[in-house]
Amino acid sequence: TRPIKIAPSILAADFSRLGEEVRAIDKAGADYIHLDVMDGHFVPNISFGPSVIESLRRCTDKIFDVHLMIAPVDPFIEAFARAGADIITFHPEAGPHGHRTIQAIKAAGCRAGLSLNPGTPVATVEPLIDDLDLLLVMTVNPGFGGQAFIETGLKKIAALRDMIDRSGRRIDLEVDGGINFETAARAIDAGADVLVAGTAAFAGGPDRYADNIAGLRGGA
Ligand code: DX5
Ligand code: ZN
Repeated sequence: TRPIKIAPSILAADFSRLGEEVRAIDKAGADYIHLDVMDGHFVPNISFGPSVIESLRRCTDKIFDVHLMIAPVDPFIEAFARAGADIITFHPEAGPHGHRTIQAIKAAGCRAGLSLNPGTPVATVEPLIDDLDLLLVMTVNPGFGGQAFIETGLKKIAALRDMIDRSGRRIDLEVDGGINFETAARAIDAGADVLVAGTAAFAGGPDRYADNIAGLRGGA
């Protein structure tokens, strides 16, 4: 069985103590730190940008998994790379030149991810798979934490697991939205190997974070 990585989304952290929250979730066993960037245009919510990420870069050495829910993407890639992003993931609907965006992310020194909304078909990935390092299956419509898991994502995860295995490349298969202990187990069964969790990772405050992460991993 493949190792499972947990990527807590700081969207569910206490923004008034963000640095301490990142240190606490790092110490609790997070593999990636998932950073949800929203622009109020591509999604109906606004979160934070490169300057917040740059500040948090001083709090942890964990991989920064930056999920861009913004349009356009290309003019901001350099800024996120300079802020400390390790992985930059974007949505194909954010612009007409997905292949160019992937090349720009790599030229900036980052790993490139593509994110599929609940309404975006798996076939979107096919022409790009040889250039991608991560695939992100959204199991909610992006914009907010705390939403319910959309079941059809499981079929997409299975289809993409197949596509990745056939490619022979090492590509993370990440799932994001409505992940709790129960949906985490089902996403893993379907083939996911990176689980994003906001609400479930940060539930109950810092004393609970290690148990939350173990429970998501399936070790609880
Ligand atoms: C949604 C974000 C998610 C979100 C997950 O737009 O991409 O990363 O923070 O939050 P939960 O785990 O609460 O669904
Ligand atoms: Zn996300």
